[in-house]
Amino acid sequence: MTEELPPVPSRNLPLSARAPGKCIVFGEHAVVHGAPELAFAVDLMTQVFVTPGSVSRLNADAGAEMHNPYFRAALELFWKGRPPVEVRAISRVPRAAGLGSSAAFTAGLAAVLSSATGGVDRATLAQRSFEVERTAQGVGSPGDTSTVVAGGFVAVNGGRGEPIWTIAAPDHRWEVRRVDDPGWVWVIAYSGIPRSTADAVRAVSARLAAAGGSELLEEFRRVATEGIDAVDRGDRPKVAMLLERNQELLREVGVSHPRLEALLEAAKPAAEGAKLTGAGAGGSVIALPVPGKETELVRRLARAGALPFVVRPTRDGATLVEG
Ligand code: PMV
Repeated sequence: MTEELPPVPSRNLPLSARAPGKCIVFGEHAVVHGAPELAFAVDLMTQVFVTPGSVSRLNADAGAEMHNPYFRAALELFWKGRPPVEVRAISRVPRAAGLGSSAAFTAGLAAVLSSATGGVDRATLAQRSFEVERTAQGVGSPGDTSTVVAGGFVAVNGGRGEPIWTIAAPDHRWEVRRVDDPGWVWVIAYSGIPRSTADAVRAVSARLAAAGGSELLEEFRRVATEGIDAVDRGDRPKVAMLLERNQELLREVGVSHPRLEALLEAAKPAAEGAKLTGAGAGGSVIALPVPGKETELVRRLARAGALPFVVRPTRDGATLVEG
């Protein structure tokens, strides 16, 4: 059964869109190399407002096209030769935290620009958002952008049934499928250490290309495949165990960080399983709380110096805000 996701309708500027944050449960980094990933959209929204302007600016910054690669790529790919736009973006997600702020900004802006140029179906919005991120970062998978465009739980290169869409790049194709939400509460926590996704992706790619790399990639693939299946079946103990195993692999490819390890240690008594989420090397962790210990987990992570959020997956993908 293929799900009908609502298209982005044709509208005139001024326009506004919002997009959720995202959180990767299994398979970050390996997904860049074609392995499966599981992520979900979180209810930490980014809102993008676009009005006609005299020069193109982002949050009142007329130099943004020079130094914000996402803004530059979106205008270059989908707004070339059109009048300048004034863009304002407000996000509840910290930047460079591994929680999808760039994907949400990209998808929100792509939704508005696509709407103002005739509208698109949702698969095209996902492809466009990926192209902006890929142009801006130079590397990466469509996992983040597809998750914030689709909303809910999303498997890339995994899961069952018909894909909701396929994303193409010259070197890879990624199939994107829905996974049912088991209805659990999750806790994510930002370490306060920003980092570059592109640098982390390049470092891991080099590690996976070196001796023993294909065995590691195979293990990433197994963990994510079993993880997607376990979430699908609502098998909490298995998910918790696989979160821990995924963290060992991420540690092995060099993207953990002493601060993240300290947070994972602090979380232990109140978490069934936990790992870093996103590119790592800083950024955030995700934990599956011991039922009833959600508040204790938040307190532990905050006491260890992180910014914690209790999150539930949201079904809402990137969408125009009408009216
Ligand atoms: O930390 P984030 O939100 O940039 O997530 C990156 C996820 C990676 O798998 C490391 C890269 C990618 O493009 O999939």
